[in-house]
Amino acid sequence: MKVLLIGSGGREHALAWKLAQSPRLSKLFATPGNPGIAQHAELVDVAPHNIVGFAREENIGLVVIGPEQPLVEGMADELRADGVLVFGPSAAAARLEGSKGFTKDLCRRANIPTADYERFDDAAAAKAALPRFGLPVVIKADGLAAGKGVVIPMTAAEAEAAIDDMFGGGFGSAGAEVVIEEFMAGEEASFFALTDGKTIVPFGSAQDHKRVGGGDTGPNTGGMGAYSPASILTPELEAQVMERIIRPTVDTMAAEGNPYSGVLYAGLMLTADGPKLIEYNCRFGDPETQVLMARFDGDLVTLLADVAEGRLGEITPPVLADRAALTVVIAADGYPGTPAKGGVIAGIDRAEHTGARVFQAGTALADGQLVAAGGRVLAVTATGRTVAAAQIAAYAAVDAIDFPTGFCRRDIGWREVEREAGRVA
Ligand code: AMP
Ligand code: GLY
Repeated sequence: MKVLLIGSGGREHALAWKLAQSPRLSKLFATPGNPGIAQHAELVDVAPHNIVGFAREENIGLVVIGPEQPLVEGMADELRADGVLVFGPSAAAARLEGSKGFTKDLCRRANIPTADYERFDDAAAAKAALPRFGLPVVIKADGLAAGKGVVIPMTAAEAEAAIDDMFGGGFGSAGAEVVIEEFMAGEEASFFALTDGKTIVPFGSAQDHKRVGGGDTGPNTGGMGAYSPASILTPELEAQVMERIIRPTVDTMAAEGNPYSGVLYAGLMLTADGPKLIEYNCRFGDPETQVLMARFDGDLVTLLADVAEGRLGEITPPVLADRAALTVVIAADGYPGTPAKGGVIAGIDRAEHTGARVFQAGTALADGQLVAAGGRVLAVTATGRTVAAAQIAAYAAVDAIDFPTGFCRRDIGWREVEREAGRVA
């Protein structure tokens, strides 16, 4: 089967690496791709509006859409309308990520545990509602904002300023509508499920580190590292998440005529009252995919095609290996602000000789040299019997890389490493 992968990040490099191992694969194309993805796929330059034509010309058997933007914009619908098999939800179903207000309303209808909230389309009404939420309060731009559309002010003045900023266009059109939420206290974890709209199978847990600085401090990023599994999500809690959050979501979407097909990525808050939904993503996580793929020994082409064909009910559910995986993101200096471009990267082979895998995100080739071309540049990924062992292996590989204009956190996985130490003690 010929497969076309859409995207250019570390997530897509991890997917390409795993897709390329499938015995079912005859040829992998990727667009736009990156130099890491090019190790496994032929890169093609196809504009979004030409994807359907390319899929038809090349007789593509499966299109895998990595990022949220094309999903929210309806790329999966266009391909399906043309009879092409696609892994990824329709635009109507991708609203679970594309509109926070849509998801909150669905939670209310389906009685899914989540933070209390109200939706607003003007600043005065939003400000007037603030006293009802207390402090801290959570203020979100409704639409896609690359993970940056959430503010958690500690004072009323900051909250009012955040509301003005969102309605004033600080997050572009994503802020035309604003959701105000109750603040939930607890530890966060991510849970992944594959669904074809009817059958749902769990596909692992992870915890990522969104803040740029050690000890989870500083501004939010797309994710500075992750590990899997997240043992804080015990089998009992996972069962609750499936039954109270994922199952009612998938059933309600189907009942309302918007069946969800693809991967559903639930951001969860583990509160004193049990797991609650923070948000959904309509795609695999980045860098969570890097650790999930490092634990998946199965045939990814067949699995994603089974999801796309609605055959999940007929297959043996996928399993992730018992081993732990941990990934450390190396970002370019300046990230999450303006990243330094063009810094030379060396030592990837040396790092991979340690047994780790270096997934590339914002990289490019310039005069035959690998250079930085984005915020998050590399995701250095290793496995081990425990998260602590995977952490040691990942940092040994990080230290083999020579990238003077990059930086990484040195404490990825710290919560789990502490928990593991506690279990042994
Ligand atoms: P989101 O983009 O919705 O995942 O939000 C980004 C981050 O904001 C989450 O990972 C949480 O750390 C935090 N967050 C979002 N909503 C809440 C909430 N209701 N209570 C506490 N923290 C939240
Ligand atoms: N790592 C967070 C995300 O993929 O949304």
